[in-house]
Amino acid sequence: MTLDILNNEPTIGQLVAQRPGRARIFEKHGIDYCCGGGKTLSQVCRELGLDAHHILFELDQRDPQPSADERDWTQASLTELADHIEQVHHQYLKEELPRIEVLSRKVVSVHGNGHPELLEIHKQFTALKEELESHILREERVLFPLCRRLDRQHPDRFHGALEQPISVMVKEHEDAGEALAQLRRLSHNYTPPPDACNSFRRLYEALSRLESDLHQHVHKENNILFPRAIEAVARLGWA
Ligand SMILES: [Fe+2]
Ligand SMILES: [Fe+2]
Repeated sequence: MTLDILNNEPTIGQLVAQRPGRARIFEKHGIDYCCGGGKTLSQVCRELGLDAHHILFELDQRDPQPSADERDWTQASLTELADHIEQVHHQYLKEELPRIEVLSRKVVSVHGNGHPELLEIHKQFTALKEELESHILREERVLFPLCRRLDRQHPDRFHGALEQPISVMVKEHEDAGEALAQLRRLSHNYTPPPDACNSFRRLYEALSRLESDLHQHVHKENNILFPRAIEAVARLGWA
């Protein structure tokens, strides 16, 4: 596999699309596989000062086999993938964002004086929450229905205008990625201080889970759904 990767240079996003378990190895090395998933491994390693051969060795040694219940989304229809993203990742955000907001407000009110970083975390989180809620609503109302129409080859009211809404979504993914990186810095990699109470700890755990879910979510859109939708528009001659 090593030589194959070096010769053909797939992108990081494609590597994870082929084998989702690889995301864990990239995450461990701080390699962005969702928003930055369009870069090749050697590009990313040059930028981060990492040894590409070391990472390839690790992929060779521990390349996680797909589990029986893990779907290969590169082979699914656009409809199935859009449904999955809505039912799993959007639903997760709809449930978790309001819950984390309540928790964050509570932790700030109790510990904000002793831990001023919590105020900034709360501010950043509430801005991110608003952005994400609007973002997923626009995907569900505009972009995903267009993807489903592509499957049905049904161009009613369809003007081939996919690239523009997709580029807006991709830009918003980058903004969300930056907000998450900022939250990670502010919380010292989600490490609660020794005096943190249970709610404080639960807040950091919830933010860390949010980050991980959002990485998978953005990866499925940026690296699988969106490129395949653009490809389908071109194939059907609707552009
Ligand atoms: Fe989404
Ligand atoms: Fe999105």
